Amino acid sequence: MSAFGSVFMPEMAISWFDGSNWSPSEIVSSDSIQLHPGAHVLHYSSTCFEGLKAFRHADGSVNIFRMDRNVDRFAQSSELLALPEFDKEMVSRMIVEIVRKFASDAPEPPGSLYIRPTHIGTEPAIGKAAVPSLTSCLYILLSPVGDYFAGGDKALRLLVDDGGMRCPPHMGMVKSGGNYAGALLPTMKARAEFKADQVLFCPGGDVQETGAANFLLIDGDEIITKALDESFLHGVTRDSILTIARDKGMKVSERDLTVEELLERAARPGCEAALSGTAAVLAPVGTLIYKGEEISVGNGGIGETTVKLRTALNNIQWGRAEDTHGWLLKV
Ligand SMILES: Cc1ncc(COP(=O)(O)O)c(C=O)c1O
Repeated sequence: MSAFGSVFMPEMAISWFDGSNWSPSEIVSSDSIQLHPGAHVLHYSSTCFEGLKAFRHADGSVNIFRMDRNVDRFAQSSELLALPEFDKEMVSRMIVEIVRKFASDAPEPPGSLYIRPTHIGTEPAIGKAAVPSLTSCLYILLSPVGDYFAGGDKALRLLVDDGGMRCPPHMGMVKSGGNYAGALLPTMKARAEFKADQVLFCPGGDVQETGAANFLLIDGDEIITKALDESFLHGVTRDSILTIARDKGMKVSERDLTVEELLERAARPGCEAALSGTAAVLAPVGTLIYKGEEISVGNGGIGETTVKLRTALNNIQWGRAEDTHGWLLKV
């Protein structure tokens, strides 16, 4: 099986903003954009993207999960990066159109069709470090993806980092390439030094998120996770899992969590931790590494509640449980 996100559908939906108008959306070859080497995005990172999925159901239909949420976040990222404004309806139509075109290629569960809307500043202008790009390009790439847990569902190891931060505080809500570039080296170092899978960024002791997922602590029937603020990405999976947990009668506490409280609670028997995100849905965390010491979360294995919540969300996505919140859009 190819690595997640390394296979693309041959065509994508695209629209260009020329400074005044968006061009009518077109379907073009997915390797066909041409950029000036001086394009704003290549120098000043005027780029944002989204990640969402379409799922094949047993009746053959293909259904996009919570597209409205991702389009809203895409628009918010664009605004916070001073990229040209786009019409959310236009982007929603582009997504539906390209997914419809490749619906027959959407893999069966546990696979899915991963959708990657992208918006980049295209103005050839290398003197505009502090000035926005007047022109831009917006496209929707598709990538069929397989079972995230194909190699076995293993509990992750997280390095708890209370020194650094994933990104500048005002950029947390922006899904932009620069944030990922900044988190790369700390994550590589954590891998090399501690065999950690991810870094849990906790600036000043405030438990935030990892490089590409939100963090949830599950203590008995309570889920504790940071309340929404501008310092981290507002995950659609996070919101979905919290909604399902509330539906199941669990207590959801959206509040600040310190590293001290995290470590103290995590070591208790029955405690679980998990990472939420579109790719993995909910991935169990078995070990926290802090100041060179390893702390097992609960029994250090795969948490029961984690698997229960993940299954509940997967069942909705795969059409095996009722979509009571209206999260799916049939294309
Ligand atoms: C930094 C970061 N946090 C959280 C998430 C989870 O967001 P979502 O559940 O919308 O995929 C992602 C993944 O997109 C991410 O990159």
